[in-house]
Amino acid sequence: MYYQRLKYTILFSAWLFIQPVNALQTQTPQVSMLVNTCVACHGINGSSVGPATPIIAGMRKPLFLKAMRDMKSGKRPSTLMGLIAKGYTDHEFQIMADFFTQQKIVRYPQPVDKEKARRGRLLHNLYCNGCHKIEGPSELLSNNLAGQKMPYIRQRLLEFINGEDPTTPVMESSLKHFIQNNSESDFDDLIHYFGSHQ
Ligand code: HEC
Ligand code: HEC
Repeated sequence: MYYQRLKYTILFSAWLFIQPVNALQTQTPQVSMLVNTCVACHGINGSSVGPATPIIAGMRKPLFLKAMRDMKSGKRPSTLMGLIAKGYTDHEFQIMADFFTQQKIVRYPQPVDKEKARRGRLLHNLYCNGCHKIEGPSELLSNNLAGQKMPYIRQRLLEFINGEDPTTPVMESSLKHFIQNNSESDFDDLIHYFGSHQ
């Protein structure tokens, strides 16, 4: 249960919410052509449409590039992105990165349990805040997790816990420490805390 996979949910919801797009007229043809593909799942300006497709607007540029390269090479697990990323060159990743990382961060309105989020905040301060600052000045080391899709966050955490994503060793050790000292319900509280930023 704890480590239940959500890949199929993500796969299904990503396709379910695909939307036709003809926005981005203000961009150069090269930029619109490249990012139009992404917008089908990640929404106009990276604000993602499906409940489990990550919001990519306002990601940090080095981390955006790292994510694309790691999913392309298969080092980082993915349901869809590995295949998609294989279709592009590193130069094209740079153009996409310039576009999405300059978009305003979006926080997804999703159902949360306020009591769980309150407990999750304390856990976050104890275990995660050192690297993932949410309240106060943001931390360059990580992407913004406030308002990210909760099923996506859960999926990512499970990838680290299960040792499927070796690209960020600090996450493996941080979560090991967390799990040693906390229950499944605490894990859930943490995710509700991230989701509570809307
Ligand atoms: C068919 C839907 C779909 C399309 C099209 C798509 N993505 Fe994704 N994207 C996903 C899903 C789902 C994930 C989560 C990883 C996975 O399971 O593949 C993801 C993850 C990502 C991430 C990682 C975010 C993070 O926080 O680490 C980045 C970056 C990204 N996509 C960029 C892009 C770009 C750039 C394009 C256009 C070339 C694109 N995506 C096209 C569905 C899509
Ligand atoms: C020692 C620093 C450090 C600590 C502590 C830490 N993280 Fe991370 N975390 C990172 C780095 C670096 C990344 C990779 C960059 C990124 O994706 O933001 C990352 C990635 C993530 C991701 C994937 C983000 C994405 O967009 O795919 C999630 C989710 C996450 N961390 C949650 C947590 C949680 C929850 C905790 C506390 C239990 C925690 N982290 C503790 C450094 C840390």
